[in-house]
Amino acid sequence: MANLQLSKNACQLLLDGETYEMPVYVGSENEKAVDITQLRAKTGYITLDSGYANTGSCVSSITYIDGEKGILRYRGIPIEQLAQKSTFVETAYLIIYGELPNREQLKRFSNLLTQHEMIHETLKHHFEGFPPTAHPMAILSAMINAMGCFQPDPMGTGDQFDDTVARLLSKVRTIAAFSYKKSIGQPFIYPNPDFSYCANLLHMMFSVPYREFGPDPDVVAAMNLILILHADHEQNCSTSTVRMVGSSQANLFASVASGVCALWGPRHGGANQAVISMLEEIIKSKMDVQEYIRRVKDSKNEIKLMGFGHRVYKSYDPRATILRQTCEKLLAKLGIKDPALDVAKGLETAALSDEYFISRHLYPNVDFYSGIIMRAIGIPLNMFTVMFAIGRMPGWIANWREVNDDPKGRIYRPRQIYTGPTIRDYVSVEQR
Ligand code: SDX
Repeated sequence: MANLQLSKNACQLLLDGETYEMPVYVGSENEKAVDITQLRAKTGYITLDSGYANTGSCVSSITYIDGEKGILRYRGIPIEQLAQKSTFVETAYLIIYGELPNREQLKRFSNLLTQHEMIHETLKHHFEGFPPTAHPMAILSAMINAMGCFQPDPMGTGDQFDDTVARLLSKVRTIAAFSYKKSIGQPFIYPNPDFSYCANLLHMMFSVPYREFGPDPDVVAAMNLILILHADHEQNCSTSTVRMVGSSQANLFASVASGVCALWGPRHGGANQAVISMLEEIIKSKMDVQEYIRRVKDSKNEIKLMGFGHRVYKSYDPRATILRQTCEKLLAKLGIKDPALDVAKGLETAALSDEYFISRHLYPNVDFYSGIIMRAIGIPLNMFTVMFAIGRMPGWIANWREVNDDPKGRIYRPRQIYTGPTIRDYVSVEQR
């Protein structure tokens, strides 16, 4: 693979008196890895790595993160520049195709997204099968899979890829908006081909018959920013899930639908919803932030400071920096006084000066401030993780394509160390 260099220094492993040599590879940002592909064949041993914290599952050229320095780049471009200068559609193109689009490519991509913004009328009936209380993430995952049944080529092979990608990226927005309308018992609002990607999403969510929600440019810009910041993030739980499912050669819709399910958990994309619930609990109980921090630190309580901590970032998540700035600016512009922001800032100040958090390198992550912005936009709490999923679509698509384009690609199938009962005989029920 381009930019993957074999290091001159191999790794030497001394095991049971034998010395084994294993190749070391170096990536384009000087990240190093010991290649253990032959470990079991040569030694009979496997490695154990809880949560895959030290395991590289793949080689990828999409996103680079430096957790110590708080660096995030999509295809080499710093997130700070994309946040300031790009749009979600342009960033999605960059992540999926590897380069920023020229004017003609961007126009073609935008037109494809507009062309595919509607969902098949028959798909609408699927919404009837969900109870009003259904979580929109359950609906989103089910409807993405159902949508795949209507696609001429859900595998997106060859020149079908652009069309299949545009269908998924465009329709996921329509499904999300329709699931919101279903949850509040309002009629579905169809997409408006004259609106931009984000303006259309807000229109479908907040317009009502005969009264169009004319999205405020600041709100559209904030939505764009949220989706850009969530667009990809290397081998996080949900993206690795999409790669895992894609490695079996399941189609793009099935693979992405599994990514939605992985993202839903509160340790991952569900954290943005959990942060707001945590802030609201503190506000309602009139608890002092120091008291909440004390409760978090007492392991008996088994509570986390939601929106804090990260497997990779051992310094400030660069996305959280941007989101905090945007939060303050947007709320000021919209004239919104949200006590949740004050509590969040108070928690951050308290945590960042507390030994418990400092010693564990726990900083605000992307979820800590994003919910306050989404609430200011008017997005309901149970739709926060759906917004994350819409944002992450380009990253999931790009990673799925990397798995399927790899000529030497293999199905993802980790090993295990068995700790169950050793061999024993079947015993009939009379003798048990
Ligand atoms: C996302 O991977 C990605 O890139 C994800 C993401 C993306 O864009 O895809 O960035 C998006 O998922 C961000 C994370 C959102 N989740 C949360 O905010 C939930 C709260 N955070 C934690 O659950 C936790 O920090 C994780 C899940 C994010 C990371 O967990 P790790 O890497 O497995 O770390 P750990 O649980 O082993 O924690 C190490 C120590 C433990 O204490 P000790 O056992 O050493 O005493 O730090 C503590 C943990 O208890 N700790 C926390 C904490 N996070 C970790 N203590 C209090 N509050 C927290 N938030």
